[in-house]
Amino acid sequence: MEEKPGKKLIVALDTSEELRVRELVARLDGQVDFFKVGLEQYLASRGKVLDFLSSRGKGIFLDLKFHDIPNTMAAAARQAVAAGVWMFNLHITGREALQWVVEAVVDETAKRGGEQPLLIGVTVLTSLAEQDLSELGIELTAEELVVKRALLAREVGLNGVVASAREARKIKEACGRDFLTVCPGIRPDWSVKGDQKRVLSPAAALKNGADYLVIGRAITRAEQPEQAVEMIIKEMEGI
Ligand code: C5P
Repeated sequence: MEEKPGKKLIVALDTSEELRVRELVARLDGQVDFFKVGLEQYLASRGKVLDFLSSRGKGIFLDLKFHDIPNTMAAAARQAVAAGVWMFNLHITGREALQWVVEAVVDETAKRGGEQPLLIGVTVLTSLAEQDLSELGIELTAEELVVKRALLAREVGLNGVVASAREARKIKEACGRDFLTVCPGIRPDWSVKGDQKRVLSPAAALKNGADYLVIGRAITRAEQPEQAVEMIIKEMEGI
């Protein structure tokens, strides 16, 4: 069965203010089930935002982008399971680190019970241009590198990758329909673009193969966030 459009929406809680988080989650109750917590809010709340969101029955996308040696990654992954997050991400570094994380997550979930979190890989940060890659000694284009890393992630057992919605179709073609694409850089036509340059509208992103849309400012900075969500969901339903 197709999932409801609202279930494909993840709202990014990019703020350092606890009160703003509480207000947003309360105002969007009944509309949004999933929230993304990044470094800023995680540190500002000293991690407490996770308990807050869990107590409100919300699914947490923990966006801390783990990147470390296999043992440290696996240990952190166990803590993500312990925290009950719905989804978390890690850089697609080397095969071994990914394997350790997958094994740790399976094992820790079996011990604790409950749903296994979705494991989402970070392929190439969109802030890196071709020239940056070349300076780093990488001779592939960004797109080639994204697909190569996505294929490795799938092979090792990750559930999907973070990707620009413009890349989503390519990733699906390479990795299969079930491999998830979690896509930021979404701007409804009526919202301000801000610092995001290569944006897609929610409808265009879904059409291009995005499974989950990560949207921050278009909702969190709207005067009426609940209205913004309603308009976005309407647009998503129109697909
Ligand atoms: O406010 P906005 O909708 O641009 O927020 C998008 C969210 O997705 C932010 O939390 C941002 O850090 C994240 N993100 C992004 N572009 C990427 C990767 C992550 O905007 N390439």
